[in-house]
Amino acid sequence: MRGIVLAGGLGTRLHPLTKVTNKHLLPVYSKPMIYYPIETLTLAGITDILIVTGGNNAGDFLRLLGNGKDFGLNRIHYAYQEGEGGIAEALGLAEHFAEGEPICVVLGDNIIEKNIITAVKDYKKQGGGARIMLKEVPDPERFGVAEFKDEKVISIEEKPKKPKSNCAVIGIYMYDERVFDIIKTLKPSGRGELEITDVNNAYIKEDSMRWSILEGWWTDAGTIESLHRANDLVAKTGANNVK
Ligand code: DAU
Repeated sequence: MRGIVLAGGLGTRLHPLTKVTNKHLLPVYSKPMIYYPIETLTLAGITDILIVTGGNNAGDFLRLLGNGKDFGLNRIHYAYQEGEGGIAEALGLAEHFAEGEPICVVLGDNIIEKNIITAVKDYKKQGGGARIMLKEVPDPERFGVAEFKDEKVISIEEKPKKPKSNCAVIGIYMYDERVFDIIKTLKPSGRGELEITDVNNAYIKEDSMRWSILEGWWTDAGTIESLHRANDLVAKTGANNVK
């Protein structure tokens, strides 16, 4: 399985913090934000990793991460997203890197307390398709939200005004090689982006989506409030813990 960290986008919700740097290079407690999603992958045994970045500071990722020595890696792959066309657009840039292998995608501003070791094992057992991870949250309207029928996820709504559950779809996704064909069929959403939620709904429609519930805390770090929370949580318990 190959790993992809999506660290493109312009991070405008964090201005002025992101005026002269990329959001994913900002500190979260003791490390740059991008360290956490990379560690999430390596801890799950995924060591073939592509970072998709963009904006004016892409060169800083290379200077910071190099060949991945801090993570016990021999090399890291890099891709560049022009503009901010959405998470699914950024993922589309990984097609050549994936070379038909299954992939695990982590959003560059998502940080977790524990790990995804079991979810990755379960994905490998499910025999293709996709897998999302869900977490109950107090503010589902900020995220992709799962709708259930008889305990089955029947659709995902992106930032619904009236969420049909309090289960957010966190920014960790597993896909088979068909994800790239699905991305090619997408049309930009109301906010002008190719949405990862549309990718997930395509897998749900063909009944090849499964899900895991994430244990431990999860946070994004893309707003001032959530960046602050991420610092507090990491300071308290650390992130990417094995136990
Ligand atoms: O954090 C989980 C949520 O992430 C999910 O629940 C949502 O379904 C999903 O759409 C996403 O929501 P956001 O609107 O909060 O995503 P955001 O635009 O903040 O992007 C998250 C990361 O994705 C960002 O840190 C870098 C990457 N990204 C984003 C965009 C828009 C890219 O690499 N390229 C992009 O063009």
